[in-house]
Amino acid sequence: MRVMLAAEEQTVRLGWVIGQATMSGSVIGLIGEVGSGKTTLAQAVLAAWQVVGTAASPTYTLIHTYPHEIYHVDLYRLDEAQVADLGLDELWTGSARAVVEWADRAPGLLPADALTVHLQTANGGRTAQLAAGGPNARRALHLVEQAWKRS
Ligand SMILES: Nc1ncnc2c1ncn2[C@@H]1O[C@H](COP(=O)(O)OP(=O)(O)OP(=O)(O)O)[C@@H](O)[C@H]1O
Ligand SMILES: [Mg+2]
Repeated sequence: MRVMLAAEEQTVRLGWVIGQATMSGSVIGLIGEVGSGKTTLAQAVLAAWQVVGTAASPTYTLIHTYPHEIYHVDLYRLDEAQVADLGLDELWTGSARAVVEWADRAPGLLPADALTVHLQTANGGRTAQLAAGGPNARRALHLVEQAWKRS
C-alpha cells in the first residue's frame, strides 16, 4: 500500500489509522531519512493506543516504555552491534506493542510479522509505503487500507 501524505495532518491521520488497526503483539517499523515524519507518525500511533503524555522526541532515549507493554523505540545513532546489544527480541514477546523508528538500523531487527512503513519526502509532502511481513501485519494492513479509503 502506498499513500501520499500532502501535509503533516495526513501523517498524523495515517498514524492514527495504523494505531487503530494494530492490536497487542504488533510491531510497527518506521524507516525514512531525517525529517521524513517518523516521530510524527509514531506519536499518532501511540495516541491511538491511548498513550498519554508521550515525550516530544525519544531521540536521546532509546526505548520509551509506557503502561500496558507499549514501547516507542528510536535507534538513531546506533550501529548494528549496539542495536544487537539492546536485546530488542525480548520486547517482541507476547502481548507487547511497539513502534520502532530507524527500523532499518540492523538486519533482522524486527520480528518477521511486523508492519513496516517507509517514509520519503516528495514535493514538500511525504509518501508512505506500507508492507506486511506476516499474517498479523497483513490483517492490520487490510484494515488500514479500508480505513484510509473511507476517510
Ligand atoms: N506529510 C507531511 N508533509 C509535510 N511535512 C510533514 C509531513 N509529515 C511530517 N512533516 C513534518 O516533517 C518534520 C519532521 O517530522 P518528524 O520529526 O516526525 O521526522 P523524523 O523522521 O522523526 O525526523 P528525525 O529522523 O530527525 O527524528 C516535522 O516538522 C513535521 O511536521
Ligand atoms: Mg524522529
